[in-house]
Amino acid sequence: MLFRQLFDYESYTYTYLIADLNTKEAALVDPVIEQVERDYKLLQELGLTLKYCIETHVHADHITGTGKLRELTGCEGIVPENANVDCASRLIKDGEILKVGEIEIKAIATPGHTDSHMAYLVNQDRVLTGDALFIRGCGRTDFQSGDAGTLYDSVTQKLFSLPEDTLVYPGHDYRGHSVSEIGEEKRCNPRFIDRTREQFIEFMGNLNLPDPKKMMEAVPANQQCGNAVAA
Ligand SMILES: [Fe+2]
Repeated sequence: MLFRQLFDYESYTYTYLIADLNTKEAALVDPVIEQVERDYKLLQELGLTLKYCIETHVHADHITGTGKLRELTGCEGIVPENANVDCASRLIKDGEILKVGEIEIKAIATPGHTDSHMAYLVNQDRVLTGDALFIRGCGRTDFQSGDAGTLYDSVTQKLFSLPEDTLVYPGHDYRGHSVSEIGEEKRCNPRFIDRTREQFIEFMGNLNLPDPKKMMEAVPANQQCGNAVAA
């Protein structure tokens, strides 16, 4: 399996490239519109055929590259069910498996950051946690139908029940981390250790974060698969 972690310095977003080097099929998870040229060039250099662009959720901090990549490659755009994105090629449900060559990508419903968020277990040994779980952090829950109690349940019951050595690849990082493990986050993630569900809800309710700079354009654009930017 080819697995690459790519970074967008403006939105601190990780995009993941997953490919089967035998069949040359590939998927991108959470591509960013400003990085489409980089991603498309990489696909060409590696001789890969893009089969899927997969979203973990409708993002508020950047516009997805899926619309442009669909135009360039004819790939399918995969979006979590209930995400209110009518232009998706296909909606994906909890437990559903996408195949990229022989590689399995399994959707794990992990709502809370948004109400339709999916994490993706890749090759059974690594999980793309989107904005549900960051390295020593987690996504915010104060907009886009976010709910702190739901996020707590998703992380502690679903992600933390994966094998301890499952690699954790987040949707963003703001401090320079790139990868962790489930066991490590269970032991060290300050948002979850020694906090009950009620304490977590109270903590998340008091973060008082500013809205993402691009939220007003990013959410409507992403509901159009990145094709139309709201004025
Ligand atoms: Fe997000």
